[in-house]
Amino acid sequence: MPFINERLEANRESIEQNRAASGPVRASRFRFEPDAVMSRLRKNIVGQDDALTAMESMLVRVKADIGEENRPLAVHLFLGPTGVGKTETVRLIAEAIHGNRDGLCRIDMNTLAQEHYAAALTGAPPGYVGSKEGHSLFDLDKVQGSFSKPGIVLFDEIEKASKEVVRTLLNVLDTGRLVFPSGNREIDFRNTLIFMTSNAGALEAEAHEQRYQRGWRRWLGLSSSKTDSLRDTALRQYFDPEFLNRIDQIHTFNRLTDNWLEALLDIELAGLNHRLTKKHAALSLSTELRTELCRGYDARYGAREMLRAFRQRLEPAVARALLAYPECRRFEADVKDIAVTVRQYVE
Ligand SMILES: Nc1ncnc2c1ncn2[C@@H]1O[C@H](COP(=O)(O)OP(=O)(O)OP(=O)(O)O)[C@@H](O)[C@H]1O
Ligand SMILES: [Mg+2]
Repeated sequence: MPFINERLEANRESIEQNRAASGPVRASRFRFEPDAVMSRLRKNIVGQDDALTAMESMLVRVKADIGEENRPLAVHLFLGPTGVGKTETVRLIAEAIHGNRDGLCRIDMNTLAQEHYAAALTGAPPGYVGSKEGHSLFDLDKVQGSFSKPGIVLFDEIEKASKEVVRTLLNVLDTGRLVFPSGNREIDFRNTLIFMTSNAGALEAEAHEQRYQRGWRRWLGLSSSKTDSLRDTALRQYFDPEFLNRIDQIHTFNRLTDNWLEALLDIELAGLNHRLTKKHAALSLSTELRTELCRGYDARYGAREMLRAFRQRLEPAVARALLAYPECRRFEADVKDIAVTVRQYVE
């Protein structure tokens, strides 16, 4: 398979030729629709409007293909507490662009840091076992994408990366390339959307926000702008300015408060119902069960706790009902004592 550079070069040339031969051509080489990506994001991510608006601008800019040539297509850092939609946003973008939630290359910086094994990113240095093969954690096809689709890389928990790894990344952000220590291979990131996520500063910002919510400044209508400066201070503790300077935009994801629970429940239920269509079945929830599933939600753990209740309590009951009433099309789930029960829907 020709290396992506050559492919891109060849395609660029043929575009130039087409343009010369037949006048105006399509505005973009990219075949994804920012609107379609955004509608998927807006349907599935709640409470993060600012971050989503920023994603829209990013997608339009990438589609127009007017970025600098020797850099990744986009570099964005998502900050925020656990379970608020940072990784999910990237997965949904991958799904909308590549038709697959796993259409991205995810690198877990935490694992890299624990293993003290920065070489896993770029293959072993010359002379070490494995250096010839140039093994790397990067899945080339997912990183480099194709002529009509951008590749997607997600660096999770970026604050855990060792200095060495950050230095490697700095180069990638600067030049759009990662050259292996063996010198005979490189990975091209110039057709890549790079996302990074981090919890850095989330706890500090949270503690401040809570004090603010309880304090007199709120009653006087003074803003809590200190949260932003706290975030920036925390960021500077974890990352060098050189690194932060090379990021296009930093977005803060909000803590999900109780008022989002119903919406989260509906998203999860829509997902389950989508899977149930294969069985020609549909599920609705009683009001009592909705309340029960949303009860005891602890915002500190994000959406995951409610999703766990959904999966561990509701889904097994649904599975049992499906097996017990194979002919039934509509089910309603309710809560009796503490057990979730699912029965045939009686109109
Ligand atoms: N804002 C949200 N809107 C809709 N669903 C959400 C949202 N936040 C979280 N979820 C749901 O919760 C799950 C966990 O969220 P996600 O993996 O995005 O967390 P995260 O912000 O990356 O947290 P961490 O820092 O722990 O990795 C997702 O699979 C998704 O289903
Ligand atoms: Mg995550």
